[in-house]
Amino acid sequence: FVPPGGGGSGGGVTAKDAIGNEVTVESWLATHGVGSRELAEGIKGDATYLVVTEDKKVQDYGIVAVCTHLGCVVPWNKAENKFMCPCHGSQYDQTGKVIRGPAPLSLALSHVEEVDGKVIFKEWKETDFRTGDKPWW
Ligand code: FES
Repeated sequence: FVPPGGGGSGGGVTAKDAIGNEVTVESWLATHGVGSRELAEGIKGDATYLVVTEDKKVQDYGIVAVCTHLGCVVPWNKAENKFMCPCHGSQYDQTGKVIRGPAPLSLALSHVEEVDGKVIFKEWKETDFRTGDKPWW
């Protein structure tokens, strides 16, 4: 017997918005359109992008915004359809896969799940689907 809401699936942190409120799927989708990539507070407090998919769902992975070069927060550039680091020019595609250095690695991933309506980040320990490699993070 597993009690409802019991922590059988192993932790995770609730996403928080810019003013520290817990993010719900409903509130996020009410304020963020298809294709958007906007920041929430994720695991260890790292700024992490939540993505709204073409079919108006919160994508099941988040993209950690910390540049793998020297750690600047990397903004999403909608016009270019890339994440572009303002510090030294690294670029990442829409999934956070590195496409231009000096950044050596792609942006880290987190799992995104909905639990009781809330958006939960969980650690990504599986193969990085963008590269087929084990996670470096
Ligand atoms: Fe992003 Fe250097 S910190 S390119």
